[in-house]
Amino acid sequence: MKAYQITKGYSIASLSLIEKDHLQLLPNQVLVKIKALSLNYRDLLVIKGVDDWKPPVGRIPVSDGVGTIVEVGSEVTTVSANDRVAGLFLPNWLDGKLTAEKLANPLGGKVRDGLLQEYVVFNENELIKVPAFLTDSEAATLPCAGLTAWHSLMEKDKIQPGNTVLIQGTGGVSLFSIQFALMAGAEVILLSGSDEKLQRAKQMGVNHLINYKQFPNWEDEVLNITNGRGVDHVVEVVGSDHINKSIDAVALDGTISIIGLINGLKGNINTVKIMTKQIKLQGINVGSKEMFNKMNNALEVNNIHPIIDKTYSFDEAKEALTLLERSSHFGKLCISL
Ligand SMILES: NC(=O)c1ccc[n+]([C@@H]2O[C@H](COP(=O)([O-])OP(=O)(O)OC[C@H]3O[C@@H](n4cnc5c(N)ncnc54)[C@H](OP(=O)(O)O)[C@@H]3O)[C@@H](O)[C@H]2O)c1
Repeated sequence: MKAYQITKGYSIASLSLIEKDHLQLLPNQVLVKIKALSLNYRDLLVIKGVDDWKPPVGRIPVSDGVGTIVEVGSEVTTVSANDRVAGLFLPNWLDGKLTAEKLANPLGGKVRDGLLQEYVVFNENELIKVPAFLTDSEAATLPCAGLTAWHSLMEKDKIQPGNTVLIQGTGGVSLFSIQFALMAGAEVILLSGSDEKLQRAKQMGVNHLINYKQFPNWEDEVLNITNGRGVDHVVEVVGSDHINKSIDAVALDGTISIIGLINGLKGNINTVKIMTKQIKLQGINVGSKEMFNKMNNALEVNNIHPIIDKTYSFDEAKEALTLLERSSHFGKLCISL
């Protein structure tokens, strides 16, 4: 079977397509034939060997995918052959609060291979059945981008009808955030660097659109839109010093979900404003299987389909990753096998 491996070049171009032997199953394991993958910003951090994401040479990248179970170990009880399943981004986080053990072994990262391969072995409890009404590619977008947005808006915070949510950008996490915020009856204010993408978001039902390139002081625009009050919740995907703008744009007693690090890993943050405005900063690390199940129910009941920009073939994986790097996409980039 085919797989892409990270080589010592640590770049998209130097990913190497190899032939790999099938693994033998342990009694509690299943073999999944991968049908579709979705790409995340984090896959680029792993492939390029950035900071703590740097994996050893030989690692197979990409965290998110969906497949069909084709072989089942002798003691497996919770899933069966032909089930359509996704791997959990954090395979050990089944439910409850996050612990160090639950945080270990994320898929396609430093310590564990990912899904950019034709077949993958999982322990049975590391998988979740995906909603039947979604295509393989749509379902493949859920484990990281979908669950992260769900966790921040619907679990750790519980946004309410009439709340205002500020969403940054039009990548994977951001578009899911739009969909969940609108589902909950919240008002969305969206930032994007592209007028064309903002117009596409308008068609999704987003009423307040700000081009952050045209309005670098976008926090003032947010305050104008909210009559000086600020928003109830910010989905912060940019990170670093950019958080100061979110601190200015959020309401008293509001919440900022710290999710992304597009602008860097550290920042010079105005801590006194966090105190005086009583802002809650909440870090989000993807989510648990329990949250994933709740998200699946919500997707099904509300007939929400993830937004896919483009789907590539397995042979075009490097092209798809290059496009992800350029950030020209709206929603998710997928690979179909
Ligand atoms: N904590 C977690 O559990 C978790 C989970 C998933 C992702 N993440 C992180 O969240 C971030 C986004 O991930 P993703 O996979 O959704 O990325 P993505 O699909 O690559 O989208 C990135 C988007 O960020 C937007 N952007 C860039 N600079 C911006 C700025 N100054 N202001 C507003 N938007 C800006 C761009 O939107 P426009 O083109 O519209 O301007 C771009 O499309 C990454 O840092 C990723 O590592 C964290």
